[in-house]
Amino acid sequence: MPALHSRGPVCIVPAMAQARVQADWHPASWQTRDAAQQPTYPDQERFESVVGELSRLPPLVTSWEVEALKEKLAAAQRGEAFLLQGGDCAENLEEVTSDNIVQKLKILLQMSLVMLMGLRKPIIRVGRMAGQYAKPRSADYETRDGESLPSYRGDLINRTGFTAADREPDPQIMLRAYGRSALTLNFIRSLIDGGFADLHHPENWDLDFVRESSTAAEYHELVKSVSKSLDFLEAITGEPIHRTRRVEFYASHEGLHLPYEQAQTRLLPHRRRWYNLTTHFPWIGMRTADLTGAHVEYFRGLANPIAVKIGPGMSDEHLQSLVQVLNPDNEPGRLTLITRFGAKHVDEHLPRMIRAVRPTGVSVLWVCDPMHGNTETTAEGYKTRRFDNILAELSAAARIHQEQDGYLGGVHLELTGENVTECVGGARGLKESDLARAYKSQVDPRLNYEQAMEIAMLIAGRLGVDA
Ligand code: PEP
Ligand code: CO
Repeated sequence: MPALHSRGPVCIVPAMAQARVQADWHPASWQTRDAAQQPTYPDQERFESVVGELSRLPPLVTSWEVEALKEKLAAAQRGEAFLLQGGDCAENLEEVTSDNIVQKLKILLQMSLVMLMGLRKPIIRVGRMAGQYAKPRSADYETRDGESLPSYRGDLINRTGFTAADREPDPQIMLRAYGRSALTLNFIRSLIDGGFADLHHPENWDLDFVRESSTAAEYHELVKSVSKSLDFLEAITGEPIHRTRRVEFYASHEGLHLPYEQAQTRLLPHRRRWYNLTTHFPWIGMRTADLTGAHVEYFRGLANPIAVKIGPGMSDEHLQSLVQVLNPDNEPGRLTLITRFGAKHVDEHLPRMIRAVRPTGVSVLWVCDPMHGNTETTAEGYKTRRFDNILAELSAAARIHQEQDGYLGGVHLELTGENVTECVGGARGLKESDLARAYKSQVDPRLNYEQAMEIAMLIAGRLGVDA
C-alpha cells in the first residue's frame, strides 16, 4: 500500500527524543509495511484533510483511564479479576440512540454482577463500543446478480447499500464515526455517574426466559443473592451503590483502520509514551496479526493495553514471536490473547499455544472468544452461531487453562441488549426457523439479551473458571 501521509504523521509534542518508546518506532512507521484490510480512497487530498482534522480533535479517552485499565488487566493475569468484553460485531452510525446504548450498558452491567457473585472476583467491564466501526472482510468484492462492488468494511469506511456510491470509501464518514464514538462515550459516562438503572431490583432484569431453563432455580438463587448483596452494601454504607462503588466501564475496538488510529495517537509529555486515545483497549484482528505487517508494527509502539485475536491457523513460532514483539518489556496487563478456535478445534490448539507462550517468559492474559470460530450459515443463508457450541468452546477453554495450571482470564462476546434472533439455542430454544423474525446484524450474529444473561449465569455457576 502507498504511504498515506506524504506530510508525515501528526504528533502534538515534538519531544520525540525524550520518549520511552523504541527509537525505531513512530505512529507512522507502519506505513513502510504491508497493511492488510485497508480501503483505497479515490480522493487522496480529501482523505488527508480529514486525517489532519482528526489529529487536531481532542482525544476520546485519557491516559489515566487507559493506565487504570492496564492495572486491572494485570490483576486478571494473576487470576484476581475477570474480563467481560462484549458488544456488537460492528456498531452502526444510525443506531447510536439512547435506547441502544442503555440496553447494551444494562446487559453488560447485569452480566458483570452475576459473574461477580459467581466468580467472587472483580469483573472488568469493557464494551465493544464507541468505535467498533471497521470490519475486516474475507473478500475485497461482493457480487450480487452478476454485479461486483467493493465489500462493506464498516461505517468508518463505506456504506451497506449495494450501489457503487455506497461502497466507495468516503473519508468524511471517519469524522462521523469519531463524533458518534464521542457521543456514545459521553452518554455512557453520564449514565454511570448518574447511578444508571436500579441494578439490584431483579424485577427490572427481564428474566422470564429463566423459567424455560432446566436450571431455573439456580438462576433465581443467583439473582436473589446479587440483589441481597447490593442491599446489604447499601445498608452498611448508607449510600446508593453507585456512590459507594464507582462502576468502571471501558471501551475497546478492533484497531483496523490504521490512518484513523494513527490520527489519534498522541505522545504524552508527562508519561513520555505514545497512546492511542480513540479507545482504552484496541485489538489486532485475526486477519491482521502478521508479524511483518503494518498492524503489528503500529500496535507495538502503543502504551495502551492491547489484545490480539488468535485463530487455529497460527503456528507456535508465530505466536512466540508475536508475544515478544508486542510485549518486549513484559509489562503487566499489557498483552491479552483472545483465542477463537471453534468448539471443534479448541482442544487441538489451545493447549499447544499455552505451552508455546510459556517458555518465552512473556505473561499474557488469556481470554476466550467463543463466537468467531463457531459461525455457520443455515440453508436459508443466515449466518448464525449455536448456543451449545459457544458454551462448549468456553467450557473447554476454562478446563484447558486449568489443566495447564493457568487461568482463563476473561470472555469476549458479540451480544446486544435487544431481543434479536441471530444465534440459535439457549433456554428458549431458538431455532433456525426463528432467525428471520428479528435478524438485524449486518455482519456477525450476536447473542440476544436472554442468551447473553444465560452465558453470564453459566460462567458464574458452572464453568469453574477459577484455577
Ligand atoms: C471480530 O471480532 O468481529 C472479528 C472479525 O474477529 P476475528 O478477527 O477474530 O475474526
Ligand atoms: Co464479529
